[in-house]
Parts: sequence; C-alpha cells; structure tokens
Amino acid sequence: MKLKFSLLTALSAALLAAGCSTSPRSSQYDPETEKKIENLLGQMTLEEKIGQTNQLSCYFVPEEMAQVLRSGAVGSVLNALTPEVANQLQRYAVEESRLGIPIIISRDVIHGYKTVFPIPLGQAATFDPELVEQGARAAAVEATAAGIRWTFSPMLDIARDPRWGRIAEGSGEDPYLTTVMGAAMTRGYQGNGIGDPTCMAACAKHFVGYGAAEGGRDYNSTNIPERLLRNVYLPPFEESVRNCGAMTVMTSFNDNDGVPSTANSWLLKQVLRDEWGFDGMVVTDWNSAGELIAHGFAADEADAARLSLTAGVDMDMMSHTYFNHIADLIRDGKVSEKQLDDAVRNILRLKFRLGLFDNPYVDPELSTRVNYCEEHLAAARRCALESAVLLQNENRVLPFDPSKIKRLLVTGPLADAPYEQMGTWTFDGEASHTVTPLAALRETYGDRIQIDYEPVLAYSRDTATPAELAALTARAARADAVLVVVGEEAILSGEAHCLGDLNLQGSQRELMAAARRSGKPVATIIMAGRPLTIAEDLKNTDALLYAFHPGTMGGPALVDLLFGVASPSGKTPVTFPMVVGQIPIHYNHNMTGRPAAGTETLLKDTPVGAGQTSLGCTSFLLDAGFHPLYPFGYGLSYTTFEYDEIALDKQEYAADDTIRVSFRLSNTGDRDATEVAQLYVRDLVGSISRPVKELKAFARIDLKAGESRRVEFELPVGQLAFWGLDMQKRVEPGAFQLWVAGDSNSGEPIPFNVK
Ligand code: GLC
Repeated sequence: MKLKFSLLTALSAALLAAGCSTSPRSSQYDPETEKKIENLLGQMTLEEKIGQTNQLSCYFVPEEMAQVLRSGAVGSVLNALTPEVANQLQRYAVEESRLGIPIIISRDVIHGYKTVFPIPLGQAATFDPELVEQGARAAAVEATAAGIRWTFSPMLDIARDPRWGRIAEGSGEDPYLTTVMGAAMTRGYQGNGIGDPTCMAACAKHFVGYGAAEGGRDYNSTNIPERLLRNVYLPPFEESVRNCGAMTVMTSFNDNDGVPSTANSWLLKQVLRDEWGFDGMVVTDWNSAGELIAHGFAADEADAARLSLTAGVDMDMMSHTYFNHIADLIRDGKVSEKQLDDAVRNILRLKFRLGLFDNPYVDPELSTRVNYCEEHLAAARRCALESAVLLQNENRVLPFDPSKIKRLLVTGPLADAPYEQMGTWTFDGEASHTVTPLAALRETYGDRIQIDYEPVLAYSRDTATPAELAALTARAARADAVLVVVGEEAILSGEAHCLGDLNLQGSQRELMAAARRSGKPVATIIMAGRPLTIAEDLKNTDALLYAFHPGTMGGPALVDLLFGVASPSGKTPVTFPMVVGQIPIHYNHNMTGRPAAGTETLLKDTPVGAGQTSLGCTSFLLDAGFHPLYPFGYGLSYTTFEYDEIALDKQEYAADDTIRVSFRLSNTGDRDATEVAQLYVRDLVGSISRPVKELKAFARIDLKAGESRRVEFELPVGQLAFWGLDMQKRVEPGAFQLWVAGDSNSGEPIPFNVK
C-alpha cells in the first residue's frame, strides 16, 4: 500500500491543554457591578441578606413558594420543571418582594437537558474537547430556554475506583483529560458569559477529592494528602475556575483527612479565593452543611451554619441551617454580619453577571424551538459515535457487511431500552425521544436485512432459564450474525449506586455464551456507566463495542459503527480492571520500590509447598497479576495505525522552552479512520516519587486508508511542573522520558533532559 505524505500538522499541547485561554484568566470583574452590589446590599435587612443564602428545591407546587419568595427568604431554587414555573417563581421574587431581587434557578444538567448526550465518562472517551464543548453549549441553550441559569456541572472528580457509581459522571482517572474536558464543559455552559442570555453558570464540583471515597463507597471518607491534592485532584478545578471563569463551585460531601469540604477554610479560602482569585459563588452540596453534624464536626445545626459560613460557603443547599440560625449567630457574636455580607456579595455578583436583574424571565415558546433541534441531535449523535470504544474485533466480524447479512438476530436487555440508554443523571431527557440500536437498525437496514429481535432478558439484572437460553442459541443458529446488547440499567451507576461486584448482572454472561454457542459471528455492545469486569465475557463474542450510556442518539451512532459508516475512535478514559480485586488501579501510578515485572509466578503456577521468601518479590496480586484488562487511552479501530520517526527537536530543554516532538502517523489499513494520538511523559527522578506516566497532550487525527502524516506536539516544559517535597510547584531539572502512542501501554520511551 503506497503511503502518502501530507503537510506536517502542528498541534500545540498548550492550546490543547484546556483551550480556555493561554493568557491569565480574563477577569469578569466590573466596577459598575460592584457599585450596584454595594448599593443593593446597603438597602437589605438582615433577614433579606440571609434569604439570599438560602437555596430550596421546588418539588412542590409553585404557589407554595409564593410566600417565601415574596418575603425574600430564598435566593435560589433548584428543580423548577418548566419555563412557566420558572417565570411564576421569578414573578413572586421580582414583582412581589420588597427589593425585587431575582432568584437564580438551577438544575442538574449533567450531560444534556432534553437532548441527552453520552454520560460524561463517555464524552471523555471521545478525547474531543471541541465536541464536548458543543454538547455543553447545546445543553445551555435548551436549559436556559426553560429558565435554568445555573447547572451543577462539570463534575471534575478524578475517579480511580469503578466501584464508585459516580465514575459515570466525571471524565475518568486522568487529571489532564479531566482538566481539558472540564474546561470544555465550562466554556460550553457559559458561552459568551456576561450578557449572554444563554449563559448558564457552570459549577465546578465536587470540591474536592470526592472520587477518592474509600472502598468506592459514595460519601465515604477520603485521605488525600495536600501534595496529591495539588498534583492530581485540584488541577481540573483550577483550570475551570481560574482560566475558564467558572462562576460557581460546589463543596463535596466527603471529609478529607477528617475535615469535611463544606467546612474546610484552607480549601475554600486559601486555595480557591487567595491562590486562584475566585470571585464567584460557593454553594454546598445537598444538605452537606447539615451533614457536618453526622460527620461529628458540628455539634448542632447552629454550629454547622457557623462552621460553613466561616469556612467560606456562600449558599446553603437544602439544609436550612443558614436560614434558621445565622441571625442568632450574628446576635451572639459567633459570626459577623461582614461574613454574611461577603457571602451575599458573591451571590448578588452571580445574579448581576447573569443579567437576571435586567432580564429575569424567559420566553416559554423558546423551548419548543430549541429542544431536540437538528443541530443538537446531530452533535449528540456524533458524540455517541466518537465515545464508543472498540475493545475487540476477532475475525474482523465488524463492520457488518449489509450485502452478506440477510438475517440478523438482535438480543439483550439494552437493545431497545430508551430510558436506560440515557444513563444516570438524566432528569429532563425523554425516553420517547431516544433512538435505540434496535430502532436504528430497523430504520436503516430493515428494508434489506431481516432483523429478528429476542431480548430474552427484560432488564440488565433479569435472569433466564436454561430453556430460554437454549431457544436463543437455536434462533441465533438460523441467523447470519448476532448482535448482543448488554450492560447496566441506568440506576446501577450514579450517586449512591456503588457496586462490590462489577461483573455483568443477571444472566447477561449466560446470554452471551448462548449466542456464542450458535457458532455464528457475534458482535456485542455493552452500555454501562463504568468499566465492568468483562474478562470472562470476551470469549463469548467476536467483537465488542463499549458504549458508556450513549444518550438520545446512541442507536443511530452505534448502528453507523456496526456497519462501518464510521470507524470507532473512542479511547478508554479509565483503566478496565481484570477483576474487582485489582481496584484501585490506574495507569498513572508510582513505580514503587518493587515494581511488578510481569513475569511473576501466579497462583495457578504456584506449586504446593512452595518455599517462603521475600527476596525478589514484587508488587502484584498472586491471583490477578498486575496488568489491567485494558489500559487507559486504549481503543481499536477498523484500520491499523503505525507510529514511527518520533523525534525531538532537542535533547535538552530549559525550563521556559517548548518541547517539539514530531512523529509520523500512518493509516496502514484499508479504511479511513481517526486515531487519538497521545503524548505521555515520565519524570525519572524527583524530589518525590513520580508517576510512571502522565498524559500531557492528545489529538484526534483523521487519516484516509494508506495516508501518512507528520504530526508535531508542542509541549511547554512548564507543563512538567509538579508540587515537590517542599510543597512548591516547579519543573525539577533532570532526566525524562516521553512516549507518543495510541494508548498508555504502548510505544517506546524517548529520553530527554531538562536543565
Ligand atoms: C446531589 C449531588 C450533587 C447535585 C446536588 C443537587 O446530592 O451530590 O452533585 O448537584 O445534589 O441535585
């Protein structure tokens, strides 16, 4: 196959780093707004000030909120469900209260409003920040049309434990990928920012370390030392807040090293305000102020309010402790009115920046024009297509050739499950608008392929009898190919939905085995909210596409991939463990003093009476080894790619240099496709032990069959900085290695030095 060369493509890792801006944060500070805030604050009574800090959920009839809104006792409402309700609540506040201060209406718009995009973990698998930004923009346009001007997203929690159900809601295990995706969402939600009626305030959450919950059990304690916070967990928040201007931050439920985030003044004042210059608004998570009592950190509700306000929390979501106790705390001298004023300033500043004082209402007709519009559905479809990860393709079963398949058997509980397909944290998306794989197959290929459908299982935890499985095998034997769609119901991931066993639920494994026994080509799609332990299932399928709950347009996107309209390009945003016992497992781990060699004697090869010794022992599991099933950044294609001629522009760099690493990427197969090229770096010796690899840049590169292209990553040496032994962030001179490859486990190290 003759390789063609095209012009060198220069990719700047700096611009890819987060894309918000390479200049310092474009300040939203406006002296005119500050004057308005001071003028308004000077007119407010103590009760009206306290009212601004009070956020209530509107699950009940709006009229029941009329009185609290007229009295100025509420600053924000979450879960107002229609534009009409939003306008009604706003009228009570703006037209019927003494000072007419508008409320801010908020909602968990996590991966789309009406048009549902793949869950954030799936969006991360695209390694396409521009597309993720489009998705957030679509969500903002649809949600602001319903009167929602504040979303509790992006979730920036690094997650290294797939037992934790909320791994679905973030961007995975890597700080750089999470930083880039969080920045994209922040930009998308806030659009043109101040003055933009479709600007929906972003909320960088959950601040901080929530994803490190011990045992993968939600809300559990975390124990992250400051240095690890600063090197791994804080960077996505810093980017979103400092360089992308996220307007709000939400405190996390967890206590870290014994200090609940909602009462952590080091976090909320020193880091967020003093170091990052944040002048936005801090809200608690739902009742997390009240939960200080359960933490054993507050003696009672008044103490909880005192601790939260003193730590720097501006608004109290649904604990009512601010509303019920701040007046008395001020009277008793336990907090000052100045502290309250500072919180109210941050709340009023948010409302001025959103233009709510000038335009508090929304046109109820707007929703009908923007919800599910073609542009949004197209973006959701492309996101679902790019988020699917091809993990296996034995015998090149995929893509299906429609001219050779006369009869396709479709089976499994998720082949036609519109609600489950949308995934966790879907409050407003409608199953009636979801296009499932079965519907898309019938729509697109029903005229030339006989599509048989026999789910066998009604939902992912359902079980089947041997007779039902035997019947499936028999039916599959009469088809030319079998498509199995299994995975997780939406409720099995998300908040408080953590699992100790990550195997496919119910009889899904048996269903895959039954399909395999037919002897026909089998392709499997897994829709899930997390990486499942599927090592034992691989033998029961030829091809495996992993679709992290792909949303409204998941069906058409997956069918396009099944039939080769496009080639899969997704990469794993999290490590896939062999077994749950390997967890926590992530690619960017430290080497340890006894790194596994990969040649260790496993349990199955350990003789009875084996001699005891510790010499030569390394860090691995006797019964599960050391390596995961799939590493971070992994994904196959319908073609093959080759990386070669990798070269650095220099061998040694100064701290203010930019590393230019060029390479040739070739599509050595017979199909056009996209590769996500990744750049990893290792700092060989540091003032602290450093990870064996860290992702520092990536790029999606489209290549036609046979095409080859020279590509260049530009990586500022400054991006190698880390918080060292002395708790200072700097680039430490010395020896480094870098890799350019298609995943975190491939490629050869290339040495360079920083002087
Ligand atoms: C939930 C979640 C948080 C969400 C909030 C409002 O408990 O922890 O992410 O934004 O409450 O629904």
